[in-house]
Amino acid sequence: MIKIFRLKNIISIKDFERQDIEYILDEAAKLEDIAKSREFSDELKGKILGLMFFEPSTRTRISFETAMKRLNGQCIGFTSSGSSSVSKGESIADTAKMFEGYSDALVIRHELEGVSKFISDVVNVPVINAGDGAGQHPTQTLLDLYTIKKEIGQIDNLKIALVGDLKFGRTVHSLSNALCLFDNVKIYMVSPPELKMPQEILIDLDNTNVEYEEADKIEDIIDDVDVLYITRIQKERFGDIDDYLKIKGAYVVNKKMLEGKDLIVMHPLPRVDEIDTDVDNTKYNKYFTQAANAVPVRMAILKTVIKNNPK
Ligand code: CP
Repeated sequence: MIKIFRLKNIISIKDFERQDIEYILDEAAKLEDIAKSREFSDELKGKILGLMFFEPSTRTRISFETAMKRLNGQCIGFTSSGSSSVSKGESIADTAKMFEGYSDALVIRHELEGVSKFISDVVNVPVINAGDGAGQHPTQTLLDLYTIKKEIGQIDNLKIALVGDLKFGRTVHSLSNALCLFDNVKIYMVSPPELKMPQEILIDLDNTNVEYEEADKIEDIIDDVDVLYITRIQKERFGDIDDYLKIKGAYVVNKKMLEGKDLIVMHPLPRVDEIDTDVDNTKYNKYFTQAANAVPVRMAILKTVIKNNPK
């Protein structure tokens, strides 16, 4: 079957069909050699990517920039609200219109849910959501799926535990929605009571074939999973710091817990204290590979949306 990619904007993984995901994963596999061998291709020569990062980022921003440069395109942009004219009172809509004039696609990170969607309604170039508050992080999900497929061999029949901050963690929201498109998936959700998966995501899952189960402790599910997907407790999204301090460090994975298990450990990063560094030099560690996979996956995304939507 010929796969196509239907979307102009990448706002929510809920807009994807399975063939859209498979299209990007297949393209990423084709581009991986260029990414890993530090080579370049002329696929996006003469194109400019606008990076509008209102909220901090290391991996997402730098890997988008690397991906664009590997395709011989160029990047422009800002790394915080404070370094743009938003700090002088310019609206987000006007700022986006400026970027539309200067670039072929926009990548947006913002602390408020819905900002990428709002921008996609006011510009004509493709818009990519690089994380909107506690909402979605669709390109992270694509690289998570790419990593699962490479390491486990398939996404169908997966047993995965999502651990940590399931309330505010946008990566686990997007990943849960994406897994609905695959067959025979079971998700274990391990979180403190205060940070459970939002009801709206559970309702999305209820309408699919995905089976899910909530659990309190990693030890209860560790023997049943192919993937332990650990997340950071998102300190910056708590209204009251005391609420954060009460649950900080609730889940920590270490080497001893993993010994003899048949699983991989993933994490979207940044890590604070939820994976002990003694896991880093074990076969279980796939979180650094996952971060490196961002480059071929984001190359595939940029190549596809920019070439499909010439200015
Ligand atoms: N995974 C991720 O989104 O990391 P950054 O916040 O560093 O971009």
